Amino acid sequence: MNHCKTFLCCLSLFLVVGSLMLGGPGLKKTAFAEVKTDSRFINVAHRGASGYAPENTIAAFDKAVEMKADFFELDVQRSKDGHLVVLHDTSVDRTTDGTGYVRDMTLAELKRLDAGSWFSSKYSGEKIPTLEEVLERYRNKRINILIELKKPSLYPGIEQQVANLLREKHMDRWRGKVVVQSFNHDSIRRFHQTMPWVMTGALVSYTSYKDTGVTNEHLNTFARYADFVNPNKKLVDRDLVNRVHQRGMKILPYTVRSSEAADRLFHIGVDGFVTDYPELGYIYYAQ
Ligand code: G3P
Ligand code: CA
Repeated sequence: MNHCKTFLCCLSLFLVVGSLMLGGPGLKKTAFAEVKTDSRFINVAHRGASGYAPENTIAAFDKAVEMKADFFELDVQRSKDGHLVVLHDTSVDRTTDGTGYVRDMTLAELKRLDAGSWFSSKYSGEKIPTLEEVLERYRNKRINILIELKKPSLYPGIEQQVANLLREKHMDRWRGKVVVQSFNHDSIRRFHQTMPWVMTGALVSYTSYKDTGVTNEHLNTFARYADFVNPNKKLVDRDLVNRVHQRGMKILPYTVRSSEAADRLFHIGVDGFVTDYPELGYIYYAQ
């Protein structure tokens, strides 16, 4: 009997230690297969395939899937009643038939808006999606999601809220399925502290960095919490690409809208780019 108890004790200890080694709470590595983001050019559909369908809608994300982009990018904000919603501007005026600030409207009010007609009557009735709807729809599709925390200073706690949703949808441990980025680097640092095993990106705007350029000091700081440095394409040259790579990060400039811009970036060695027209990335896959 005593032998039996000792055996069961040892077995439980073995199972607990074993499960932690395979990816228990707090560990960085995942037991799931990794999505390969480093095997070829990374083609990111900006706000979905927004050259062809209204930005940040299911129509634009479906189009990105149809066009075989590697990622689609989207912008996350929060409604008055606390729901994470997908929209670029802080007001609904430009991309819907309504007016007002996202943060002042409930989800029900936002859902009543038409987010497609401004682009084309073909898309009338397209709705503002919630982040949850997007994650649910694309979690098992062959596309990854680049989530931008848009103006997170307006939405205290949004980093934790996004992390909670990723965990709830089991998308946090699937490395490369989602990347979280922002122009607000404090916010990205907070997200990284909350969920260090999910990849992150530091967005770098032209207006904030045009005078200094992106210095080694900037890059050393980004490297503490980011896997990607994603600058405005006007800031990007071969030297910057090399300095980003030397620090173990990848670089995905935005926003590419011509084959000339695509070609220049490809030939200076970027890892991919963010584009309204995903076909601009096709020719680089084979090279
Ligand atoms: O992913 C880069 C891009 O989305 C950043 O600019 O203004 O389109 O959100 P913006
Ligand atoms: Ca964006």
